[in-house]
Amino acid sequence: MPLTHRSTLTQFLIEERRRFPGASGDFNALILDVALACKAIARAVALGELASPACPQADPGAAGAINIQGETQTPLDVLSNKVFIRRTEWAGNLAGMASEEMELPYQIPGQYPRGKYLLVFDPLDGSSNIDVNVSVGSIFSVLRASPELEASGRDVCEQDFLQPGSRQVAAGYALYGPTTMLVLTVGDGVNGFTLDPNLGEFMLTHPKLQIPADTHEFAINASNSRFWEAPVKRYVDECLAGKTGPRAKDFNMRWIASMVAEAHRILMRGGVFMYPRDTKDMSKPGRLRLLYEANPIGFLMEQAGGRASTGERPMLGVQPQSLHQRIGLVFGSRHEVERIERYHAEPVHTEMDNPLFTERSLFRV
Ligand code: AHG
Ligand code: MN
Ligand code: MN
Repeated sequence: MPLTHRSTLTQFLIEERRRFPGASGDFNALILDVALACKAIARAVALGELASPACPQADPGAAGAINIQGETQTPLDVLSNKVFIRRTEWAGNLAGMASEEMELPYQIPGQYPRGKYLLVFDPLDGSSNIDVNVSVGSIFSVLRASPELEASGRDVCEQDFLQPGSRQVAAGYALYGPTTMLVLTVGDGVNGFTLDPNLGEFMLTHPKLQIPADTHEFAINASNSRFWEAPVKRYVDECLAGKTGPRAKDFNMRWIASMVAEAHRILMRGGVFMYPRDTKDMSKPGRLRLLYEANPIGFLMEQAGGRASTGERPMLGVQPQSLHQRIGLVFGSRHEVERIERYHAEPVHTEMDNPLFTERSLFRV
């Protein structure tokens, strides 16, 4: 398509806003600031090792520290977090922020006005992939501040962020891959924008994304299989059994270890992603975080006709209990996610249900 026919992200947002004549423009300004943060992070990621010896913006002391998740922060985790804050704190659109990399909510500094939105983000998802030059991304979610918070302009607290995913105003991610993309929902479908490196603009390249309801591709970290709960084991076993199994079709498997990249693949061509709750570490009910991983990706999935779930119930209905809460996450093609939910709802199947162990089986004593 010739350059002149594509919308920029700015044009797209302004045209969307026309549907809400009373809108102040704060929301659009916020999304554009987030987009600028993502462009800056894309540049830093693209420099790779070249940025390492003297990355002026990074705080050298902080890199290598352990974050609230108990995970080691890479210099790019720290830099990306700072970029998100600096690009969005000044404009008067935010009441506060929360990030994977900060234990406590971030207060908008006193010299800036405070606004009506809350920004929650994973500044760099998949950061274990940075060293190996595999795609990483940033994930964000926008919530409304309560009227009381907005009116008082007080400091934010954890409680302000504990809203179910269904209350998100917008969600999206940037993917730093061979191209940089921004994928966004404002509650009216999902649209994908590709960064035009010549113009420095996100251009609408993937309007109205729709996830196929059926798929033959699944993604799960199989090294955890001995810790999976029975419904997950059953689902994966049936996929692996392929054409001759109960699903009567062969499946393909993928695992990038950047959830944001898996979400993008699924938005492009369908598939199912699972990082279920398991018995590996009972203190961690899942690997991924509810507020800045599961909810924004869940909102995108639902808006693209897919589904997101804990395995047991819709992700967007979950009432968060804490800022950094972890949760089992299943998302992607609708029929597969529904099947996995069905398996969780059905009574547990054991080996004894296998025909080899039933009435007339060889193994019956
Ligand atoms: P983050 O880099 O923000 O901590 O998140 C990494 C997450 C997610 O992107 C990915 O799906 C998962 O960790 C990978 O986990 P495994 O190392 O268990 O495969
Ligand atoms: Mn992450
Ligand atoms: Mn991260």
